Amino acid sequence: MQELNVAAQPTFEHGLMRAYRIVRAETERRATRLSPEDQVVQSMPDASPIKWHRAHTTWFFEKFVLEPHDPAYRPYDERFAFLFNSYYVAAGPRHARPQRGLVTRPDAAEVAAYRRHVDAAMETLMADADARTLSDLLPVVEIGLNHEQQHQELMLTDILHAFAQNPTAPAYDPGWRWPATGSERLAGGDAVLPEGIHVIGHQDDGFCYDNEAPAHRALVGPVSLSRDLVTNGEWLEFMADGGYANPLLWLSDGWATVQADGWTAPGYWREIDGQWHVMTLGGRRPVEPALPVCHVSYYEADAFARWAGRHLPSEQEWEVAARGGHLRDAFGIVWQWTRSAYSPYPGYRPVPGALGEYNGKFMVNQMVLRGSSLATPAGHARVTYRNFFYPASRWQFTGLRLAAVPS
Ligand SMILES: [Fe+2]
Repeated sequence: MQELNVAAQPTFEHGLMRAYRIVRAETERRATRLSPEDQVVQSMPDASPIKWHRAHTTWFFEKFVLEPHDPAYRPYDERFAFLFNSYYVAAGPRHARPQRGLVTRPDAAEVAAYRRHVDAAMETLMADADARTLSDLLPVVEIGLNHEQQHQELMLTDILHAFAQNPTAPAYDPGWRWPATGSERLAGGDAVLPEGIHVIGHQDDGFCYDNEAPAHRALVGPVSLSRDLVTNGEWLEFMADGGYANPLLWLSDGWATVQADGWTAPGYWREIDGQWHVMTLGGRRPVEPALPVCHVSYYEADAFARWAGRHLPSEQEWEVAARGGHLRDAFGIVWQWTRSAYSPYPGYRPVPGALGEYNGKFMVNQMVLRGSSLATPAGHARVTYRNFFYPASRWQFTGLRLAAVPS
């Protein structure tokens, strides 16, 4: 998905206004390939309609920037706050998530008009702000832009899920190709991390979410991490060896999910005339053994690691190895499951107010993923980033690399 990563990095040194325009334009660019009908569908409760993503990211600026900072601002439509609030209880009542696909009005054209209305108000606010006001605006606009980038990734994962339900397996982009993997700079095999105390978490002046802080010391290693991601070819070996049929490889909840959902292969895989195929952004394609495996859940990743006689790295192990430049394809291909439960770092404090709901209230029952994926927009990834999903989720671009205790 090289094409999706060509937008200039929205670094804030180049000005808030420029960053705002770049990020907002990228959302619309991703939506351009989709018809109004594509944009209304919600294929499961976890996924949202494209139109909803476009409107919700806009409501975020209306609610958290324009409403508190621009006394003259008038909402585009008072009813949109109910329709397009996601999970911010402190920001008022909201439409039920599983029902988002039933909202045919406002239509896609009106959502585009809503975006233009808010963009005009935002640009006027930023252009007219004096230095002091701008320093008040910057942190919340920065969160708003990073929030919108997260939704840009979800736009692709959610439309892929919708298209995967269509018997004709439509392509989001017929010319789509897997991003190039590997690097000649590094040999394969394992990177060994000796035992040591390392600083984990966000340490520079750039943006981070509150869940990446505070930086703290942690004992890491000894551990060896695979330099490479697990491939489709390796996954086919796991399948051929009865991996999905052997309860001894699975966590109890994972085995229950395999049974209940009838899993025999990664998400979006389908066997056609003896050949495995996978649904991609370019439509349904044959599974290529050399490519990294994608659309596996935490349960599957954990079972595969057990089958391989290894385990998943902790998020601290991953961060230390990635910071040291030891991992190939750490970013831009698939998010990598870690065996770390998503929980607060020592000393964690959520940001005050409604935006404190952004991360902190989800710190239970989910697992951390590190790196970034082919759908992550340019400039959004960093080595301390903590993504998180439920262990059965597999509609994201998720894969794995393995770890072991060095012998
Ligand atoms: Fe959101």
